[in-house]
Amino acid sequence: MHRIGIIGAMEEEIASLKEKMEQVTCKKKAGMEFQEGILRGKQVVVVRSGIGKVNAAVCTQILADDYQVDAVLNTGIAGSLNNEINIGDIVVSQDVLQHDMDATGFGYERGQIPRMETLSFAADEELADLAQKKCKEVNPDISVFKGRIASGDQFVSSKEVKTDIVETFGGFCVEMEGAAIGQAAYLNQIPFLIIRAISDKADDSATVDYSTFEKKAIEHCVNLTLAMIEEM
Ligand code: ADE
Repeated sequence: MHRIGIIGAMEEEIASLKEKMEQVTCKKKAGMEFQEGILRGKQVVVVRSGIGKVNAAVCTQILADDYQVDAVLNTGIAGSLNNEINIGDIVVSQDVLQHDMDATGFGYERGQIPRMETLSFAADEELADLAQKKCKEVNPDISVFKGRIASGDQFVSSKEVKTDIVETFGGFCVEMEGAAIGQAAYLNQIPFLIIRAISDKADDSATVDYSTFEKKAIEHCVNLTLAMIEEM
């Protein structure tokens, strides 16, 4: 791979990756700092996109236009949508969709973006398989799952909203950027993978759990992201 783009929505999610980089140069665009350099022997661009789908899409487009990245990885945390997926575990994307896209009034199914040919955006299968393999090596104490990730401009912290998302889309976890990165990567024909560690159960305890488990979850994600880069 020539150059890998690595996006984290929040500084906490990319801070330790940035610390480990060498030969760093930094450029600012759209309020984001694009830090280019070497990480585990690979040319990478690490950037904090900010939270939410618009920030994530803008960030991915800049990685495509200005850095011609060959792949985009997104590392971060998420709320679990499945009882078998516990806090600390990792979900890698099989596909991503926007749970808050709703054009049902025009006869589209929920999540479907009008006049686009696909409901969800498929992540790169090779990257997903590599992530599953590497995760078992670097995070042996947790479980790794491959499945659908549902994204929306909403922190999900109620049982009702969670149940609705699960029943409608059947996702494995919920977060706020993955589908925007996936859509932007799809439009630019760039392979992508979303890597998320679970910080909460996206229910009424989500805000408390999130603050308690955020740090540990990020550690698992960073371990995996570093191991992935080495093999890409
Ligand atoms: N990121 C981490 N937990 C989340 C949740 N419950 N909803 C949306 N994004 C999240």
